[in-house]
Amino acid sequence: MLKGKKLAVVGVGKLGEAIIAGLLKNSELTKSDIAGTVHHESSLARVNERLGIKISTDNRSVVKGCDMVILAVKPQNMDGVLKELKDVLTDKQLIISVAASVTTAFMEERLNKGAPVIRAMPNTPSVYNAGMTGLCSGSQVKPEHVALARAIFECVGKSVFVDESLMDGVTALSASGPAYLYVIIESLAEAGVKLGIPRETSTLLAAQTMLGAATMVLESKAHPALLKDMVTTPAGCTIDGLMELEEGKLRVTLIKAVVKAAERARELVNTQSASK
Ligand SMILES: NC(=O)c1ccc[n+]([C@@H]2O[C@H](COP(=O)([O-])OP(=O)(O)OC[C@H]3O[C@@H](n4cnc5c(N)ncnc54)[C@H](OP(=O)(O)O)[C@@H]3O)[C@@H](O)[C@H]2O)c1
Repeated sequence: MLKGKKLAVVGVGKLGEAIIAGLLKNSELTKSDIAGTVHHESSLARVNERLGIKISTDNRSVVKGCDMVILAVKPQNMDGVLKELKDVLTDKQLIISVAASVTTAFMEERLNKGAPVIRAMPNTPSVYNAGMTGLCSGSQVKPEHVALARAIFECVGKSVFVDESLMDGVTALSASGPAYLYVIIESLAEAGVKLGIPRETSTLLAAQTMLGAATMVLESKAHPALLKDMVTTPAGCTIDGLMELEEGKLRVTLIKAVVKAAERARELVNTQSASK
């Protein structure tokens, strides 16, 4: 799918680097197919050393002639970067933004009519190719653009296209989600420590258990409730633990956490749009 394509990544920071590393490892793209930019001259050596791709501070020359452009600068830099690139980009180039809270309408207003833009929301496990990316399409996106974007983000994990109205939910669930799950891993590890298990062993037990449970859900495609029932022996110990979770309102707390984060994501989108 990506073979023979040229990619420019504007803003090779933490996320840009993770995406490029994933592409170099898991796609047909080679170092000579990918070029990137950073803001400060002092960042050039870092990218060169870690990725070995062509890197510069000149956004306009780097995006020229590329098939796909990933914009991975901070949301507050998007306005300036889009305006800077408007007259060098053509409608033949797919533009993908990973900037949180920046809508496709925001990008389309700043680019030429006809520009195909895709908004993506990856998460930090992308660094270990275990990412989850939610994507949505702008008004000019065609099936081949969707296929290209999927091919890119599947190099760093899994991807799913949703309607843009659901992107705040995606942000709150899978982009913020690792933070909630770290708290759960940390708490389970503390429990192990309380029971006398050394902290390192306890953290391993907790983290690998979370990974295993997630793998069961993804691979078996069974409903999580069914998988939970399979672990819960009548009159066994798991049911006692589950009762404590119910009493502590774990479910409703997690639901409320995601809903609250989505509300905040919506506020941030509105702030971005208002600062047009
Ligand atoms: N990190 C995540 O897990 C994550 C997840 C989802 C979405 N995102 C989104 O991804 C974007 C990048 O996040 P990050 O964590 O990777 O940030 P970051 O590490 O700060 O990277 C931003 C990069 O953009 C470069 N940059 C700044 N202004 C530029 C300009 N005008 N032209 C070219 N490059 C420029 C910076 O260059 P210098 O290095 O020279 O300063 C830096 O390398 C953000 O919009 C964020 O919302 C991140």
